Amino acid sequence: ATTLGAAANQSNRYFGTAIAAGRLGDSTYTTIAGREFNMITAENEMKPDATQPQRGQFNFSSGDRIYDWATQRGLKVRGHTLAWHAQQPGWMQSLSGSNLRQAMIDHINGVMAHYRGKLAAWDVVNEAFAENGSRRSSNLQSTGNDWIEVAFRTARTADPSAKLCYNDYNIENWTYAKTQGVYNMIRDFKSRGVPIDCVGLQTHFTGGSSLPGNFQTTLSSFAALGVDVALTEVDVTNASTSQYAGLTQACLNVPRCIGITVWGVRDSDSWRSGESPLLFDGGGNKKAAYTSVLNAL
Ligand code: XIL
Repeated sequence: ATTLGAAANQSNRYFGTAIAAGRLGDSTYTTIAGREFNMITAENEMKPDATQPQRGQFNFSSGDRIYDWATQRGLKVRGHTLAWHAQQPGWMQSLSGSNLRQAMIDHINGVMAHYRGKLAAWDVVNEAFAENGSRRSSNLQSTGNDWIEVAFRTARTADPSAKLCYNDYNIENWTYAKTQGVYNMIRDFKSRGVPIDCVGLQTHFTGGSSLPGNFQTTLSSFAALGVDVALTEVDVTNASTSQYAGLTQACLNVPRCIGITVWGVRDSDSWRSGESPLLFDGGGNKKAAYTSVLNAL
């Protein structure tokens, strides 16, 4: 295969990218994105501040531009994200208690109704754990420890066809406390029948040339709980070829690792642009890391 998407498809996986609506007029960008990838995530346009800027007033204009661009090309779309401590609209930031809990439920219902039946998966809850493995403190966490399972139960009813994922960063190293915290929550959810289908490992790697400890063990351990796993926001400091090849190989070695998404197209598109962390340079040329991934797929 000669593209990332086609190569990943050989093992029934996908290879995706984050897309920014504001760049859809850039033909270099859209040419690469449409050629190489077969799964699309909106980098910011389906987040709560974008989709419900005023309480009760939903706005899907930018999210729909990305959705339409992708599906017109036959690409699938992951939804990102419904409940998160960051990128909340101002009105939501100032809520607490039962008022915020109801706003979260209403938000999930409103956004998922709009995209009902259309998306491959949703990151229902994003980044709910602290580095020490306990819950991150946030206005959502202050509504009660059950907010995450309420979000997932609400999501399942709102769109039964979307795979429901928990998504986080720094959960790649199996020995890390945060990884264990998330693992224990997923195990608990599965044992109690809380609806959850997948875990997204963001995979923002920072420095070094080897993978975080036991990365493949982390993937297979989550998978053994009965969920799919996916690498959802991959970027790597200086696009280390060994780390890119290694993370790709780790996913391929785990049957329930269903796909890999990089967090942008060219280095110049990245939220970490100073670290040149992606597979294409600012001119749209394939980097060595691109070849290392393609060869590993
Ligand atoms: C980032 C976007 O890339 C930036 O454009 C934005 O300013 C901030 O958010 N974890 C996530 C993503 O789940 O949504 C974040 O995306 C990167 C970290």
